[in-house]
Amino acid sequence: MKNNIPPVYYGDYLQLDKILGAQQLQSQKYATAAHDETLFIIVHQVYELWFKQILHELNSIISVFSHERVDDRDLTTVVHRLRRITQIQQIMNDQISVMETMTPQEFLAFRDYLVPASGFQSIQFKQLEISLGLKREYRIDFDQESFYTRLTAADRQYLTDLESKASLFELVDKWLARMPLLEIDGFSFWSLYKQVTDDYLADDEKTIAENSTLTAEQRKKELEALRQTQEKFDALLNTDKYQSLLDQGQFRLSQKAMLSALFIKQYSQEPIFNLPFQLITLLTEVDEKMTIWRHRHAMMVHRMLGGKIGTGGSAGHQYLHRTTQANRVFVDFFDMATFLLPKHLLPKLPDNVTRYLEFHLYQAAKQPV
Ligand code: HEM
Repeated sequence: MKNNIPPVYYGDYLQLDKILGAQQLQSQKYATAAHDETLFIIVHQVYELWFKQILHELNSIISVFSHERVDDRDLTTVVHRLRRITQIQQIMNDQISVMETMTPQEFLAFRDYLVPASGFQSIQFKQLEISLGLKREYRIDFDQESFYTRLTAADRQYLTDLESKASLFELVDKWLARMPLLEIDGFSFWSLYKQVTDDYLADDEKTIAENSTLTAEQRKKELEALRQTQEKFDALLNTDKYQSLLDQGQFRLSQKAMLSALFIKQYSQEPIFNLPFQLITLLTEVDEKMTIWRHRHAMMVHRMLGGKIGTGGSAGHQYLHRTTQANRVFVDFFDMATFLLPKHLLPKLPDNVTRYLEFHLYQAAKQPV
């Protein structure tokens, strides 16, 4: 440690004069200070700081996936940082209950002074959504419009530019699609998989047909649901059918990426898939925690505003509840459970394939840093 460095003072290092001097009550400008406005401001500021930290991690992850080849060592860092993001998200979700200690009437004491400011204008939140993969075409109508009409020209331009860059979703899709997992050394996993799933679904059909506790109507419904599952299974291995379901919005991952992810999930116990499996699991968790945040926030808004509209002009909680369903990014990683087989039914990987996977692991460990 160098000893000619001037001593650091806690408050200066953290620039606390700026942070602690940044709670200016709107209510105080026009009437008496509303006690709860301090809480309202601080909770929002804490969120914005957490958004900043998440974006810091996310941008570094995006930069790793922007390379044509992703090294296993970088993947370790990615997994580590994604785990940090999910821990922060957990705090963000729990933090809603602090805001909820404010009653609707306490909120009304200063709410009208905030119009037309709104969470819609949280540029960092929009940045987070876009960088993860929630681009304009995937948003619900009102949300698309809110982008243009409620922001300054500079913020609008900034987010529009960001939309033209590759999101984490797009980069992970490409990375998965590049994996050579579909045909290894003459072993076609997918034809075996198709055979096993056909048998599996035929068993299910027999079980439904022979179930004497079902009425004719119930049996018809269950068989129809099974037929739809069968159709999705078929689409997995049929490029045209898959494309048609992708166009209808039933899949978002490309077919190759979907098959790679499925293979990784099916054989997650293979050492070489450990990091990719953790990555998929963590991206699933990021999406889930984001959706929980949307839901918790919408519930809080319902409790705080009832049927009133938001300061940003939306239908309030009704609009926010719709975003919990629609504004998802990694939803394929959830839906994929449809296609998973129990481990005991999985086609056993032949020795040469297992050796191939081990070989890659061994090679990766031996590569120079
Ligand atoms: C009393 C507490 C709160 C109320 C009543 C409230 C209300 C609302 C409403 C009604 C909207 C929809 C847009 C509009 O019409 O204004 C909204 C959006 C939003 N709020 Fe809040 N909010 C509260 C607290 C928070 C907190 C603590 C955060 C943390 C940053 C937050 C972040 C957001 C974000 C990011 C959006 C945009 C969501 C999206 O576009 O999907 N809000 N809020």
